[in-house]
Formats: sequence, structure tokens, C-alpha cells
Amino acid sequence: EPEIIRRKDEMRKWSRSMRAQGKTIGFVPTMGYLHKGHLSLVNEARKHADLIVVSIYVNPAQFAVSEDLSTYPSDFNGDLKKLMSATGGVDAVFNPFDLYDYGSGRGGSGGEGRENGGRKEKVEVSCADETGGGHDTWVRVERLEKGLCGKSRPVFFRGVATVVTKLFNIVEPDVAVFGKKDYQQWRIICRLVRDLDFGIQIIGAEIVREDDGLAMSSRNVYVSPDERQKALSINRSLSEAKLAVERGQMSSRELRSSVIQAIEEAGGKVDYAEIVDQETLEEVEEIKAPVVFCVAAWFGKARLLDNIEINI
Ligand code: PAJ
Repeated sequence: EPEIIRRKDEMRKWSRSMRAQGKTIGFVPTMGYLHKGHLSLVNEARKHADLIVVSIYVNPAQFAVSEDLSTYPSDFNGDLKKLMSATGGVDAVFNPFDLYDYGSGRGGSGGEGRENGGRKEKVEVSCADETGGGHDTWVRVERLEKGLCGKSRPVFFRGVATVVTKLFNIVEPDVAVFGKKDYQQWRIICRLVRDLDFGIQIIGAEIVREDDGLAMSSRNVYVSPDERQKALSINRSLSEAKLAVERGQMSSRELRSSVIQAIEEAGGKVDYAEIVDQETLEEVEEIKAPVVFCVAAWFGKARLLDNIEINI
């Protein structure tokens, strides 16, 4: 049974006492509604640390007002069961209700999050609210946050980088694991840790897929069975693009238009389909170095992300 920790001061205390006993800490931040993709991160973290902390926190700062903060799926008890089923289980689950509460300095002064189980903290830090909130410090990874998802979600990565910084400062892990499903997020965290000298090793874990190839996501519940069938066009066309590169097709233009066409023919709406350098995330015209082909596309109510690394 993992320790369930609800307050940030208690989380830090737990981590420090474990570290004082010589234990290393592996950390997997999540927004809950866990699936096998999340559990693979836990299993990966196990290989690198003695104790595992998973955070479950739907971070309001990374949602725009128009986005799905209020309807983001949750199932805390189900999540706990899944975490216990991971190899070796987990040692602590951090589910804070006071993450953006600076009121008393000890947390819990307003206690607003308590009634709803603390999962959706009701503080005015939504990215739409820059004036009314009690939070005024933001971490930005200026170049990497601009492209790809940053274009349609301009304050998303600011919210992610800021909450991950807060979580790192509270949990004080030795190692943290992120999924390559959110490739840009993973690269942004790597860069943030490097640029701000966090002493934390960041590990990128491979994408976990459903049997039919769809990348697992908490948001897949928004997709109807029919849409889901059509959404397979994303993974399928990305795999075909990789094969085309292996056969010598090096032009981004050609590769991109095939993927866009396949997704649109299946009824999806492409937000972006870009071939970028794996490190800088800058668009490339011709494939000469390792790239990642990243796609975001709407199927019904769901904006789905996927990507494929192409190493040449
Ligand atoms: P969330 O979407 O819950 O994802 C938590 C972690 O699981 C991320 O590192 C994500 O990349 C990884 N993940 C999700 N689906 C995956 C899959 N199919 N295969 C492999 N890894 C997968 O990402 C977030 O939460 C938040 O932005 C967070 C980092 C917690 C900050 O709030």
C-alpha cells in the first residue's frame, strides 16, 4: 500500500526522511486516470531508483479556459489499484490539494480542494487568469515551447514547466520519467532541468499503444468507437512515413502531405503534422539527421497526439 500524501510540506518531509536513510527517489508526475502508458513509466522509474513517488494532480495552470479542465477524467481509487499492480508497486502517491496555496505558508489555509478530494484544486491560477491569481512566477522554455503544440496552446507549456518545477522542488527526486508520447513536453523538461541546474536525471519512456496501435491517452475516453477506428490513421500514416524515409524519401513536404491526406481522408482535422529535429524541435525540410514526426489531430471532441522517431 502506498503512502497517500496530500500536503506539500508532508511530501517534502517524506522525501527528505527517505533520502536521509540513503534511498534514491524516482518520480512520475501524472494527471491521473492512469493507463498502461503511465504504468510503464513507473516500471521504468523502478529500474533507476529505490523508491517511487507518483503524483496525481490535474494542474489548472496548463489548461486554457476553453479547454477540458472541468471535465478531465478522474478515478482516484482506480488509479491506486493500478499503481499497486505495477511491478513493485509504488511507495508514495502525492495528490496535493494545496499546490498553489501559499496562504499560511503551511498549506491548507483555504482548504478549498478538500471537498472534491483535492483532485481539482480551485485556485485562480488557470492560465487564462494572470491578474487575479495568487501565483505570479512562471517557468518558460522559450524556444522549445513555441512550435508544435505551443502554437495552438500558447500557455500550455508555461503551465507544465511551472508545475513540474514546483513538483521537483517538493518531491526532490533523483530521477524523473516522462513519456515520449508528449515528445515536446519531454524535451522541454530535459532543457529546463539542464538550464536551471536541477540535479535530476530525466528519462524518456517509449510510447505505449493499444493493441490496434492507438497511442494510449487519458483523453481516449472522449473518442467514440467509430472515431477511434478512424484515428488509427494517425499511427498508420506515421509508420508509413517512416518506411518511406527508409526507402529514401527525404523530403518533409512529401512526407507531411501524405500524412495530412491520410488523416483528413479518415475524417480527422489536423492541427499540425511536422517533421522536426529531435533535440531542437526545429522544422526540417530535408531529413539528414534524427528527426521526430509529430502529429496533433482532432477526431470528434478529442485532440490526439502521436509521433514517431526516425533515426537515420
Ligand atoms: P499526463 O497526461 O497524465 O501524463 C503523465 C505522463 O505519462 C507524461 O510523462 C506522459 O508523456 C506519459 N504518458 C501518457 N500517455 C503515454 C503513453 N501512451 N505512453 C507513454 N507515456 C505516456 O503529461 C502530463 O500528465 C502533465 O502535463 C504533467 C507532466 C503531469 C504536468 O502536469
